[in-house]
Amino acid sequence: RLYGDSRTNSAGVDLSQVSVRERLAAEQAKLDAQLPLPAGPVVRGKMQVSDPYKHASPVNQHNVVSLISNATDDHIDDAFEAARAAQRGWDELGGARRAEILRAMGDALEAETDRLIAIMTREGGKNLPDGVAEVREAVDFCRYYAAEAERKFAGPVRLPGPAGETNHLELRGRGVFVCISPWNFPLAIFTGQLAAALAAGNTVLAKPAEQTPLIACEAVKLFQEAGLPKDVLHLITGDGRAGAALVNDLRTGGVCFTGSTEVARIINKALSEKDGPIVPFIAETGGLNGMFVDTSALKEQVIDDAILSAFGSAGQRCSALRILFLPEDTADGFIEGLIGAMDALALGDPAEAFTDVGPVIDEEAKGILDQHMTRMRVNAKVLKQADPGPLADNGFFFAPALIEIPSLDLMEREVFGPILHVLRYKRKDVGKIARELAAKGYGLTLGIHSRLSRFHEEIMAEVPAGNVYVNRNITGAVVGVQPFGGEGLSGTGPKAGGPHYLARFATERTVTVNI
Ligand code: SER
Repeated sequence: RLYGDSRTNSAGVDLSQVSVRERLAAEQAKLDAQLPLPAGPVVRGKMQVSDPYKHASPVNQHNVVSLISNATDDHIDDAFEAARAAQRGWDELGGARRAEILRAMGDALEAETDRLIAIMTREGGKNLPDGVAEVREAVDFCRYYAAEAERKFAGPVRLPGPAGETNHLELRGRGVFVCISPWNFPLAIFTGQLAAALAAGNTVLAKPAEQTPLIACEAVKLFQEAGLPKDVLHLITGDGRAGAALVNDLRTGGVCFTGSTEVARIINKALSEKDGPIVPFIAETGGLNGMFVDTSALKEQVIDDAILSAFGSAGQRCSALRILFLPEDTADGFIEGLIGAMDALALGDPAEAFTDVGPVIDEEAKGILDQHMTRMRVNAKVLKQADPGPLADNGFFFAPALIEIPSLDLMEREVFGPILHVLRYKRKDVGKIARELAAKGYGLTLGIHSRLSRFHEEIMAEVPAGNVYVNRNITGAVVGVQPFGGEGLSGTGPKAGGPHYLARFATERTVTVNI
């Protein structure tokens, strides 16, 4: 049975057209002439400026992208007050009216696709295909949750009961939702979280990652122009301290977070220890994602899918492939193919049309990758890592790396970037290795390459994963098509872009009336 509606996902723009690439380049030049732009908290519809500091592009540290003002305690307090006062009215608008506004928000993003991509190449180091996908996903989230709001928040549903009694069940907003989003999907996840919370009848305080507030400011401006009431959504810029202030506030009605497992634990603990209501926590975190290949798999397909899954978005996706499990009989041929394919990857300025891999987000991220390589040079075998060359003098460029590991003992946690590990296995040991991977505790994405359904079942039975992909790449879940999210150390579920998501942002009331 298909769960869907007549909605179609956003088509995006076609980068294979020269005219489209020229249009994007012109938009990039226009934006570059405007930079740096201010980025700050938006409270009651107005951007607040206080003590701004310069924030540079990960592509080139000499290019200042934004002048960032962090939210003060007063901004946070004022945003909570405004959001709290506005929540009841927003909830009472009902799902159908909120859906209209969400659709207008999606349309507004889609109409500004070129500019949004240009901002993300500079601020987030996203290349053009990733920029296109990011805008599409943000638009899709608005439209999907609009359809869900119409379906589930249209009013009370009637339930059975004895004669003389009526029973109704209704979903309502919970209050003020805090949405904390990551820099790796600074538009799509930022928008997806707040669109879900709004669709369910909450008002929102959204905190974008400290590395990417500019794209968030741009989106909030578009949402307000599209008709979102100004007290319904507020933007709180800042680092972890701002996040902590939001989470710890007694006016918080729920928290939606996407980011690292470590920060999710900190939030979970803070929520469990504070006074006030017990509120829902929705977390999407990291993964230690594997792809299992057997001898029936098609070599070229595996290589293509592994390269895209491991090195697309410079490996900065929670869904990205970290460990490729190869059968020992055929491993050499696959490794040779991977090395050849890596030679063809273009590292460079993400605004250039044919760049495959852009920079990583900042110095800290690059430092963690460098440290991992140092450890691996001692304990494993580095099969390939090119030198990023002069690019790395000014930007945070890290060339994709391929490492053969002797066992999973070296892989304790997610390392976020373009590093792919391969592990050879003997057929008789595959169950044991799958259990070792499962024992790491993550459960996000899983790839299987095999023509044999027995092999699919064997791996799926052992490895927990929210999203399993058979005979394809393991990134780029599509809204409404591959609802996304994991379990264990990878998050709480429910899945973004799926039919169960909005309910977690809502409270339920049953009304029983005897006549
Ligand atoms: N949803 C993204 C993907 O599927 C990761 O956050 O790649």
